Amino acid sequence: MAIVKKQYICENCGNKTSRWQGKCDSCGEWNTLKESSPMFSDSASMSSLSSAQPGKIQRLSEVKNTLKSRFRTGMGELDLVLGGGLVEGSLVLLGGDPGIGKSTLALQLANHLTDAGKSILYVSGEESAQQIKLRNQRVAEAEDILVLTETNLETIIATILSGSFDVVILDSIQTLNSNNVNGVVGGVSQLSYATNVLMRMAKQAGVAVILIGHVTKEGMLAGPKTIEHMVDVVLYLEGERFGSLRMLRSSKNRFGSVGEVGVFEMRDSGLVEVPNPSALFLEHRQQPTVGSSTTAILEGNKVLMLEVQALVNSSSFGYPKRTTSGFDVNRLQLIIAILQKNLKVNLSNQDVYVNVAGGFKIEERAADLPVALAILSSYYGKAMPNNLVACGEIGLLGEVRGVTQIDKRVKESEKLGFEEFYTAMKSSVKSSKISVRQIKSIKDLENNFK
Ligand code: TYD
Ligand code: MG
Repeated sequence: MAIVKKQYICENCGNKTSRWQGKCDSCGEWNTLKESSPMFSDSASMSSLSSAQPGKIQRLSEVKNTLKSRFRTGMGELDLVLGGGLVEGSLVLLGGDPGIGKSTLALQLANHLTDAGKSILYVSGEESAQQIKLRNQRVAEAEDILVLTETNLETIIATILSGSFDVVILDSIQTLNSNNVNGVVGGVSQLSYATNVLMRMAKQAGVAVILIGHVTKEGMLAGPKTIEHMVDVVLYLEGERFGSLRMLRSSKNRFGSVGEVGVFEMRDSGLVEVPNPSALFLEHRQQPTVGSSTTAILEGNKVLMLEVQALVNSSSFGYPKRTTSGFDVNRLQLIIAILQKNLKVNLSNQDVYVNVAGGFKIEERAADLPVALAILSSYYGKAMPNNLVACGEIGLLGEVRGVTQIDKRVKESEKLGFEEFYTAMKSSVKSSKISVRQIKSIKDLENNFK
């Protein structure tokens, strides 16, 4: 007979060990290891195999097409990210850092849906009804939303099943606790159990459930990552804590694509949709300025026009400084090295600062060329024309490489009144308003500054 080994699972992080310990090796929490029966002991799996019944195999053509109906939320940017709206009976996870605006977004959504005649329940385990009322006064005029302040999972499910709701919002998943599982509130076992039960309830009752989850520092609470695999749609609300811009991205969607990005601005009256963000960052574009260049970045399927700024200044210490905001500092060091090697510039005794205006973070390689242009502009003290857009990755040999969806970027630039576009490739956009100049190597840029 096989020896059945004991197994201990940490209730906080899910780590498994074969020995009991006071402290979990993985998350460092005390007294969280609990004994559990091992999943696959030989004798257990053999006996369950002999008693199991075969499952039902179906041909796809015989499966009935019962795609649940999808309804619009009334918030265009949210619908875009959801792939056309909320699907009946789906489980949506809305994650993000604390304070980023998840509750605000959820409350606004509840208001929009209530206005559209849907029946919504807003369950909050974090705030009192008074707090929700106060917040609601900021974001909406009507006060028709139904609110439940509760953290007990069984009570919440009983309440949901006793009414006929179209959508239930749960703020937040980390405050839920069930009588049926042990473990700390917000720990892995509570979180997984609650999600599992909610998933089954959502499918059976046809209620769309939106779970709000805080992204947390490891340790205290289990984060939304723990339940991502169980839910249908995963959305993340991101942005700079003290900036006003918020981006809503989907990293998983069983009912649509994940390419789209929703853009919002946090104002005094809640989140305001920014359906056309391309011009947002260029509001302050005035005269040609030394050390500034413009680029067209793709966010999902949207084009954002961003201003890149550089400041080159002689170092007062022996070691020159390289500082960035919104751009990778290692990438900047690489670009500086390539410029030094290929052009007649000496940056070894110069501090170089690079900033992306508007607090935006650029991760696309397409920003290499505009960064190089901004640096050269500041170095030579000569402004670039303010009707110029640049997009291109710079290789180690100084060659400029192409970027994806060039036509889309050129078209958007043209729409916003730009007249020249620097990039490595040919564009098929035929327009008399914007001319595309092919830059093969950064050596081609030298003439701009003579
Ligand atoms: P909140 O939705 O509570 O964040 P989360 O649920 O993700 O933790 O939003 C918190 C921040 O948003 C708070 O610092 C104040 C700000 N805020 C506004 O700027 N305008 C508003 O209308 C509202 C409701 C909040
Ligand atoms: Mg909140």
